[in-house]
Amino acid sequence: MSDLVLLEQRGHVAHVTLNRPEVLNALSFDTLGRLGEICDALAAADEVRVVLFGGAGGKAFCAGADLKERRGFTEEQTIAFVKRIGDTFSQVAALPQPTIAVLAGAAYGGGLELALACDMRLASTEVKMGLTETSLAIIPGAGGTQRLAPIVGMAKAKELILAARRVPAEEALRIGLVNDIAPPDQLDERAAQLADAIARNGPLAVRAAKQAIELMDAGGDLATRLVREREIYLQRVLPSEDRLEALAAFRDKRPPEYRGR
Ligand code: COA
Repeated sequence: MSDLVLLEQRGHVAHVTLNRPEVLNALSFDTLGRLGEICDALAAADEVRVVLFGGAGGKAFCAGADLKERRGFTEEQTIAFVKRIGDTFSQVAALPQPTIAVLAGAAYGGGLELALACDMRLASTEVKMGLTETSLAIIPGAGGTQRLAPIVGMAKAKELILAARRVPAEEALRIGLVNDIAPPDQLDERAAQLADAIARNGPLAVRAAKQAIELMDAGGDLATRLVREREIYLQRVLPSEDRLEALAAFRDKRPPEYRGR
């Protein structure tokens, strides 16, 4: 089961790889269990500053729920699966580190929902993606109906989900579904560049900024959110050693050395 999803750390960047290329990295019950375990480990990993999610084999990020496994499910098992996939993607969304989905190929159904649970998405120019569930007579039930509209807007989210439309890379970029696209042979390099650009910044500040930006999701009025933003600044960032290191490095005209303290 541990091979279903791989976890590797390079420097301060963790790489999580869905590893079932023979079924385009489709998500089985056990694959989700392993992904959940990895999220638990990452949530406690202070030294990890950025998490990249990808798929093995180069052909797909993830083709969604494992439809072969699903065929043999009882109704009770299907209910358990729907709960597990939603809960697991919520774990991904709740990670304290910035998360980037690297979409080298197909990202359909639950595959795209996993990418939507990440903070950012980078895609190959060859990618095809879509919330295709309604074509299978189900709905995107692992966060897709809730996480797509804030990214692409309500009307576009309805169009994509209700028509089960498969979106090519250029359109995905144009509507903001992905942050950037790159030719297949340059995608990993592009992802590494973005991860490094984040990982070199103050780790506590990066996590605090992510938390503050996400206040938007909680709703409420602007005045309340601005108070909360200030609390996050004063409580989590102001007392840090890294903040003093930044000032000292600026004075000494040298790059700062942040330690996440
Ligand atoms: N679950 C289980 N197996 C899957 C799968 C899924 N979601 N998606 C693909 N596979 C399997 C295929 O059955 C095939 O296995 P096989 O060789 O034993 O038949 C293998 O992965 C390769 O897929 P294939 O369809 O031959 O590749 P393709 O390049 O022709 O097409 C897709 C790729 C992604 C367009 C196509 O596989 C597809 O439409 N998959 C379903 C995607 C989807 O709607 N997901 C939403 C789930 S909610």
